[in-house]
Amino acid sequence: MKSVPPDVLHHLKHHRQEHVLFGWDVLSECERAQLIGDIAGIDLGELDTLYRRRNEPHAVLPPRDRIAPLAVEAWSEISSATISIGEAAIRAGEVAVLLVAGGQGSRLGSDKPKGIYPVGPVSGASLFQIHAEKVLALRRNYAARVPFLVMTSHATHADTEAYFEANDYFGLPQIDVHFFQQGTMPALDLQTGKLLLEKPGQLFLSPNGHGGSLTALADSGILAKLKDTGVRHVFYFQVDNPLTRIADPAFVGRHIEVESEASSKVVFKEQPEEKVGMLSQIDGRCGIIEYSDLPAEMANERTATGELMFRAGSPAIHLFSVPFLEKVTSGSTRLAYHLAQKKVPCLSERAPKSENALKFEMFVFDALPLADRWLAVSVERTDEFAPLKNATGPDSAQTVRQLLIARGSKWLETAGVAVPRTAHGEPIYPVEIRPTFALDEAECQRKIPPGTTITAPTLFE
Ligand code: UTP
Repeated sequence: MKSVPPDVLHHLKHHRQEHVLFGWDVLSECERAQLIGDIAGIDLGELDTLYRRRNEPHAVLPPRDRIAPLAVEAWSEISSATISIGEAAIRAGEVAVLLVAGGQGSRLGSDKPKGIYPVGPVSGASLFQIHAEKVLALRRNYAARVPFLVMTSHATHADTEAYFEANDYFGLPQIDVHFFQQGTMPALDLQTGKLLLEKPGQLFLSPNGHGGSLTALADSGILAKLKDTGVRHVFYFQVDNPLTRIADPAFVGRHIEVESEASSKVVFKEQPEEKVGMLSQIDGRCGIIEYSDLPAEMANERTATGELMFRAGSPAIHLFSVPFLEKVTSGSTRLAYHLAQKKVPCLSERAPKSENALKFEMFVFDALPLADRWLAVSVERTDEFAPLKNATGPDSAQTVRQLLIARGSKWLETAGVAVPRTAHGEPIYPVEIRPTFALDEAECQRKIPPGTTITAPTLFE
């Protein structure tokens, strides 16, 4: 391929993007083919439209009278009969788990996949290990096959696969661990709308958001294969939350019982200004309002009993039925892109001082309003939510470890173990309960040997 194929040149000129051919003459054959392939994979017309919309507000919320608090059920009120329904579904191999791990973890500042980050307070176990061991324990407890779907991106794929391989898939049968890559989106120059280049011949591409998991699941053929093997529900969770209870039977059971298409866990907001997306009812459907879009007066509204009116925070834990996933990934249905202004080091500006680029991402919660039947279940924040986002401060490895120790200590105390605490009530010694020891408080209670004492950092495994 010596010269640029005429149809490609025409297409690029039509969209005023021919600058991406910069350096063509000195590119290798392989680089040229890669560039042509990347261009073919981009919908330049769609990018033009997205760029034109760059100054529109993120989301135009409908008037207040079309928004209502979402009805939320309490996890603690789920009956044992319902839990049995969930257990039967897991036992029958009807539940797969989907871990999204394609993000670049830019706030954390590590150049490796976030899943490799060590968070185990005693063991130093990584996020991937903790999640994989939960799947392993779930399989063991129910003598069931639980397909483990790990979504990566071009940024995290090779390192993630190599990490699982080097650790023997943490004891999981390799045949039930499926890696697949999400799609990418290019970034545009904020001022001109031109595609950004990393270097000559290479577009700046980034993962297309956690919403890309649904399309990628379908496009990779995995969704069809799951369906063929009898999977009926897919549990969705994010790599950065080691407290996630993966496919717990109460959540699965209630989801099945009410024939929900898309179920979500909820943690109640305590402060109006908390930065967490909020589930609500919009035009009679389940939806999320991002914290940045929630008007202050709505965030501060209270009920007659003094609770926040809109308090159903989302820890990004969902359960989708397979027919629903087919519906939202088929034909013309596609999640919309959200626009974000970011600093992107690129060929034309190696060290931008301010936002120079527009990036585009799909968000998984945009699927929620497409569900005709849904479910929201509230859980205790300290039981299920410890996100790792930042290198220091809130939502950092330090807070995540503290939350893991706090939950472990609580389980031990329920099991009758005396946990030494400081005058402020903090556990003196780090404790860690491996998922393969116990997946929940009740299992911990059954397994703790009588006479257990905590006199040093302790790992239960
Ligand atoms: P975040 O939006 O917090 O992004 O992702 P991040 O990559 O972890 O961190 P920052 O924003 O770059 O600092 C929440 C979850 O969604 C996944 C992440 O891997 C994480 O599990 N995710 C995010 C993807 O899988 N793909 C994406 O394109 C974006």
